[in-house]
Amino acid sequence: MLQDIPTPTLREGSPCVLETERLMLRKPTLADVKAIARLANDRRIAEMTRRLPHPYLQDHAVEFVRAMETDTRQTVFLIEDNFVPVGMVGIDWREPDAPELGYWLGVEHWGRGFGTEAARAVIDFTFEEFEIEHLIAGARVANPPSRNILEKCGFQWSGVELHRFEALGSSTPVDCFKLTRSVWSSLKNWNSSTRHQA
Ligand SMILES: CC(C)(COP(=O)(O)OP(=O)(O)OC[C@H]1O[C@@H](n2cnc3c(N)ncnc32)[C@H](O)[C@@H]1OP(=O)(O)O)[C@@H](O)C(=O)NCCC(=O)NCCS
Repeated sequence: MLQDIPTPTLREGSPCVLETERLMLRKPTLADVKAIARLANDRRIAEMTRRLPHPYLQDHAVEFVRAMETDTRQTVFLIEDNFVPVGMVGIDWREPDAPELGYWLGVEHWGRGFGTEAARAVIDFTFEEFEIEHLIAGARVANPPSRNILEKCGFQWSGVELHRFEALGSSTPVDCFKLTRSVWSSLKNWNSSTRHQA
């Protein structure tokens, strides 16, 4: 229910840690590369994400984590359930006027609402920490679960574009979505009404 959307808490003294009801989102480190590679090395994930290569080797994870240490164009969080890595979520700032939400979860963790919970945490964090007017996101037309997450978070469909997917080695249609600050703020403030019997 809309009124049940809590804001993730930002851990004091550790600005890159977000906590939700079940998950902890934190910066990935080199100690996580084995877990990241194990989770990401699945064609079902690579085929739905634009830049994940397949196969995804430990070297890819090392390169990625090292790049994240200095790359200010991306905000990336490792998602943990009970201290066990389950996936990644983040914002790509390559287009500063159109920061883009992206996420993936290890296949064994699908279907438990983690994707929605992690996406909501990062959306709240981004609107609260940065003076942006909107977020964008895209989901392959053949990716109903991701579309569902975006719509549950308040994203509105804005059109279809062709995008290249590294693992496919080709371009494919992507549904594009936008979440404006005003819609986000409206959802966050939608408190339940009280009904009085006449
Ligand atoms: C997309 C992804 C993150 C979803 O993670 P998840 O934790 O399973 O997602 P959630 O459980 O939060 O929500 C998925 C929603 O899609 C729905 N769904 C699942 N399969 C579906 C289908 N075939 N058709 C329509 N809806 C579907 C679920 O029922 C759920 O909606 P609900 O909460 O209203 O029931 C995960 O499947 C994934 O990592 N996929 C590969 C990478 C990817 O697609 N990343 C996004 C790139 S845009």
